[in-house]
Amino acid sequence: MRRARQNLEASPDVCIAGAGIIGLALALELHRCGARVTVLDRDTALSHTSIAAAGMLAAQDPENPSQLKPLSERSVALYPQFLSSIEALSGCAVPFQTSRTFQAHPSYANAFDSAMLPALTPGSNHFQMLDERSVDPRQLAAALLAAVRNTTITIREHTALRSAVDSNRNIRLDTTTGSLDTPYLVHTQGAWSLTSVIPRKGQMLSVGLPSSLKLRDVIRTTDIYIVPRTQGPRAGHALIGATVEDVGFDTTTHDVDLVYLRNQAARLLPQLADEKLCPTVDRWAGLRPGTPDALPLLGRLTDDSNQFVAVGHYRNGILLAPATAEVLAQIIIGRESEVDLTPFSPQRFPAKDGIAQ
Ligand code: GLY
Repeated sequence: MRRARQNLEASPDVCIAGAGIIGLALALELHRCGARVTVLDRDTALSHTSIAAAGMLAAQDPENPSQLKPLSERSVALYPQFLSSIEALSGCAVPFQTSRTFQAHPSYANAFDSAMLPALTPGSNHFQMLDERSVDPRQLAAALLAAVRNTTITIREHTALRSAVDSNRNIRLDTTTGSLDTPYLVHTQGAWSLTSVIPRKGQMLSVGLPSSLKLRDVIRTTDIYIVPRTQGPRAGHALIGATVEDVGFDTTTHDVDLVYLRNQAARLLPQLADEKLCPTVDRWAGLRPGTPDALPLLGRLTDDSNQFVAVGHYRNGILLAPATAEVLAQIIIGRESEVDLTPFSPQRFPAKDGIAQ
């Protein structure tokens, strides 16, 4: 990595556009490597997709494309260290909320009845028990932001990137709050980034669990998941998600969809049908950054540019943040990436693709 010119004290070594979990995890990693980092966000840090997620570290989800495995396994391996470095900087611990996932076999996903409840044990024919953990993304977001704010990383909120022009190994950024020069730019704006990344809306709700329902594990079918919070401010709640909708940037929630999700969840745990026993405590929708092949775009935007992208993490942004930060920092610094990034080449989509300004 080439250092910024000395006469531009305010210029960062790396500028990151997008202060979601990917952008801020990368900012911390680059900062750890000695870089001066500025992060821009059109809105406020960690205010959209990153806090709408369920937080499953679902590296073994059978719905994931197989090419995602090496990156997701690397991220799972990095997670304890990722959380401890956030805790060291912020003073805020981010505990794992669950440590097991019961994954329904696809043939049983739509044929569940309460007689199957005893099946929710390891070794069941209907469910496979996976060693998968989850975190509370809102707890993670608060700690990550506090960690970043305790470093020299600059976050410029309410600053949208309007254009980025490469010339002579410098990138001139035009933003809604002024211009900025940087030798390296990384686009991490999720659903608001490249034209090949489309928002895929997910509605979900969270419900309070009665003391009679001690749910400590994630339950997941091909249709829905139930994710209990066991620690921290939302302990005793369970998330029920999620729809997958292609409706642009709309984030409204609809009773009909939430009722559908609750009914599906009640087929797994019948108590969830009872709104008095398990009242709704929150409802929201997030915009997953989807790509045509459900794989992220990680790497250099074009061969002759020092603009990089780390977008399109679709359903796995929380899971993939530590490994994405690691591999992007490695390639920006000029090292070999820990993981083969060939399947994630940003150049695999047609050249008409471009940055969505
Ligand atoms: N990560 C869970 C979802 O996309 O619904």
